[in-house]
Amino acid sequence: MERTIAKIDVRQADQTDPLRAFRDRFELPEGVIYLDGNSLGALPKTVKQRVARTISQEWGEQLIRSWNAADWVHLPQRVGNKIARLIGAQEATVVAADSTSINLFKVLSAALQLNPGRSKIISEGDNFPTDLYIAEGVAKQIGKDHQLVLADTAADICAMLDEDVAVLMLTHVNYRTGYRHDMKALTKAAHDRGILVIWDLCHTAGAMQVDLAGANADFAIGCGYKYLNGGPGAPAFLYVNPRHQGGFRQPLSGWFGHRAPFDFDPSYAPSGSIEQYLCGTPPVLGMVAMDEAMSVWDDVDMTAVRAKSVALCDCFIQNVGAYADQFNLTLVTPRDADRRGSQVSYSCDNGYAIMQALIARGVIGDFRAPDIIRFGMTPLYLSFAEVEGAAAILKDVLATRAWDAAEYQVRGAVT
Ligand SMILES: Cc1ncc(COP(=O)(O)O)c(C=O)c1O
Repeated sequence: MERTIAKIDVRQADQTDPLRAFRDRFELPEGVIYLDGNSLGALPKTVKQRVARTISQEWGEQLIRSWNAADWVHLPQRVGNKIARLIGAQEATVVAADSTSINLFKVLSAALQLNPGRSKIISEGDNFPTDLYIAEGVAKQIGKDHQLVLADTAADICAMLDEDVAVLMLTHVNYRTGYRHDMKALTKAAHDRGILVIWDLCHTAGAMQVDLAGANADFAIGCGYKYLNGGPGAPAFLYVNPRHQGGFRQPLSGWFGHRAPFDFDPSYAPSGSIEQYLCGTPPVLGMVAMDEAMSVWDDVDMTAVRAKSVALCDCFIQNVGAYADQFNLTLVTPRDADRRGSQVSYSCDNGYAIMQALIARGVIGDFRAPDIIRFGMTPLYLSFAEVEGAAAILKDVLATRAWDAAEYQVRGAVT
């Protein structure tokens, strides 16, 4: 039976919001309702000063001495440990490095080598494309006989987990629909058949609490620029369960993964711990921004984040639901909060133009081909009044056909 959503009193919800003080920690332009923090998180105010200090003092004055004096060299581990707390991982099991795509290359390569004699990688056709592209690349490069097999729907996955599957590779929260897998149940179903599991947490980390250790996940990856607010192109992260850390050399065996990089030994000796998943010199400015952005989370109660995320999504679904049928908007995000992440998506005709018209009115969401308009809910800096306001502006854009103007039909390189 469809879940009914109780009416939310917006004013009261904002007044009693335990997270409302966090908004002031972010730069948000006047007149904008920002519903795209699931794609690029807002700027935490202290990041500006911290990066400026790093540039002027640590780089400008201290120069190369800052690798030790400002401990630049351990930023990947430091940031990794801050992220670990949000994703239910132990100390020294997470590092910040590279991009999500590159980190997937590393952990998928490791997982295939750790599970020899099996030929299949299982994923979903609707997984984020870079995950599928990387899996294809890894299968060709390392696996030779490996093949990527895609489930049509989430419900098909369990039946596909047979003795020939080496790795199950899934994104916890779907980027388009916001559908959320049951991490614990799927990890267990895979392990029962000897399969290793990789979770992509791009739409999870910072959006809700997750328990990688409790779910006994093997590997995880995710990005820093969405709900974690690390900035455009921020370093990504990867998690390796301690039981796999010494077991395999990941193929991007750069000097930062070496046991003693500054011995300059001509042969590679892996660190044997999570550091062996590092490759080359960390991008210090991006790492510093990420490190500072993560400090916001020191004071955050993730239970409150999830409760507010559920309520913000409910509020939007309820308000848009009042007119969705009239304008042929189809909700593709589960109404059941236990089955979704922190976004609300609708399929519709003219979605790209509708989104451009909304952005012109200050409501920033995004469009995902072929026909999805997406609205991300970030509990640290969104109010219920804004979510209600965004739903009213969407109605106006639809009712007036404002989206029909020529200027909203031209696609930018990024949608
Ligand atoms: C689920 C998922 N995986 C991976 C990526 C992108 O990876 P990268 O940071 O390597 O571009 C995204 C980007 O939106 C994503 O949503």
